[in-house]
Amino acid sequence: MNMVIAEPEIRIPPHTAAHFTDALAPYAGAIEARAPDGLDLPLYRDAEWIALFEEVTRLYALHDHVVLRGLPALVDGAMLIAVLGAMATVFITYGRDRRIARLFAMNPWTQDLAHTAAEGFFHSDMNASPNPPALTGIQCIRPDPGAPEYGVNRVVRVCDILADLERRDALPVVHWLTQAEVRMANDRSPHVWSGRIVDNGCIRFHPETIRAAARRDGTQAPEEMMAAVQEAAFHVSTPLHLGEGDLLLLSNHRTLHYRGECSVVFRRFPTDFIARSIYVAHATDE
Ligand SMILES: [Fe+2]
Repeated sequence: MNMVIAEPEIRIPPHTAAHFTDALAPYAGAIEARAPDGLDLPLYRDAEWIALFEEVTRLYALHDHVVLRGLPALVDGAMLIAVLGAMATVFITYGRDRRIARLFAMNPWTQDLAHTAAEGFFHSDMNASPNPPALTGIQCIRPDPGAPEYGVNRVVRVCDILADLERRDALPVVHWLTQAEVRMANDRSPHVWSGRIVDNGCIRFHPETIRAAARRDGTQAPEEMMAAVQEAAFHVSTPLHLGEGDLLLLSNHRTLHYRGECSVVFRRFPTDFIARSIYVAHATDE
């Protein structure tokens, strides 16, 4: 039996999106600077915005993720930050200038995981950090030029992965996910996190961080376990396509997410190309 259900999504009509964009315009330039200390936009008292977020909250509670279609991507990720600020109170900031929305553009010439065109693994964000974010927001600035075959996203709930593994009697994998002490490390940090992958319904998972910890410890990474997780996650998820402006909100505690292989179209080889680009932002609460 396939337990895959339709993706939870909300389509925002063009006139509503234009109304939100106009209401945000006076604040859009300053939103990122204000947001770290808590965002309270006049937009949050707008009746249409409130109605939209009642529906967003309802779907998010049911599915642990939701797609909003029809909102424009604004400069510096202002729309993504406004949407995330309606769901959470504390943003994660980056760098000395406390940026919130980070731009990720696929690059065919890099090996860096965040920008490579290669297929990714199902993972949670910042899984080796002491306190991974609760909420991840992704807004598509430019879809993959080879979409829908390339640049596809998937989101899968932890409870669905575990249920799928149990149905197949893959109990050693369930045990590894829920009972084993697993070490994870970020290549850019000396810190090694150690604990259960799924603990109290919360997941931390990224195969590259488990491999990085194994390399430091001089041990073999549990490749078979990780492959089984990837296979189960595929089985209980469906492809999700993000068009220009489409926004994906997901629980970084209760889901894993995935990005398929990306493509590029060269305008002039090798430096001028069209590729997928997104804004990503995180909040510590939801
Ligand atoms: Fe991610």
